[in-house]
Amino acid sequence: MKPFVKAFFDEATNTVSYVVREPEGRACAIVDSVLDFDHASGRTDTRSADEIIAYVQGEGLNVEWILESHVHADHLSAAPYIQEKTGGKIGIGRNITVVQDTFGKVFNEGTEFQRDGSQFDQLFDEGDSFHVGQLRGDVLHTPGHTPACLTYVIGDAAFVGDTLFMPDFGTARCDFPGGSSKTLYESIQKILSLPDETRIYVGHDYKAPGRDEYAWETTVGEQKALNVHIGQGKSIEEFVQMRDARDATLGMPRLILPSLQVNMRAGQMPPADEKGDVFLKLPVNKI
Ligand SMILES: [Fe+2]
Repeated sequence: MKPFVKAFFDEATNTVSYVVREPEGRACAIVDSVLDFDHASGRTDTRSADEIIAYVQGEGLNVEWILESHVHADHLSAAPYIQEKTGGKIGIGRNITVVQDTFGKVFNEGTEFQRDGSQFDQLFDEGDSFHVGQLRGDVLHTPGHTPACLTYVIGDAAFVGDTLFMPDFGTARCDFPGGSSKTLYESIQKILSLPDETRIYVGHDYKAPGRDEYAWETTVGEQKALNVHIGQGKSIEEFVQMRDARDATLGMPRLILPSLQVNMRAGQMPPADEKGDVFLKLPVNKI
């Protein structure tokens, strides 16, 4: 069964969020939502999430799942905000516990910050399956960018998060804590072993040399033939050398510090202080 996929592009963070729904019927899942955050003022905004909610409500859809491909480092998740308005279970990869352990230390979180993934409704393992109405979803563990990265294959559509990007842009960086270019190469082979006609929906787009429009949909066949980092059967050695050299030149994403603190809590802010005010930390020389 082929799901219908509607994309929402957030230009501020180059993130693509998706609503994936039954071709007939009303069940849907939301993948990788965005809570807008202005770093300079520390203010959140729900404009991006409200667009998704308006679509879902306008079409009369039932949100069964709110899925995260991983703990994002470049935008805040709107999962709890959306869940409050539409329902649905928040899911992420089982290895979220590894990410929580790493960043629990970086942000010097106290014992009230549980490192067991219990902030999420569902922790997925490799090989798990789930349903969106009549659609079947399969879970691939595809680490490398982060230890908890998942690819959700729903019908003939694979939501690959930050693994592969569009063929002319390549692949995701692997230099965050717990990342590994060798592991990403192996994860990508798993994605490329899906049937050639499998639709691939990427987690970000940054345009690419010679392309002035944003794009987010491609196929396994196109990736195998055209991906500039990994296509045409590039070897693991070639990939690792290219990826590590490129990562050494990249700065940190603008929103990495707020994003990690919020996303490792399933999109919740840290607990408010006794006056009800919420603060995010800015660790110095830690990342
Ligand atoms: Fe990411």
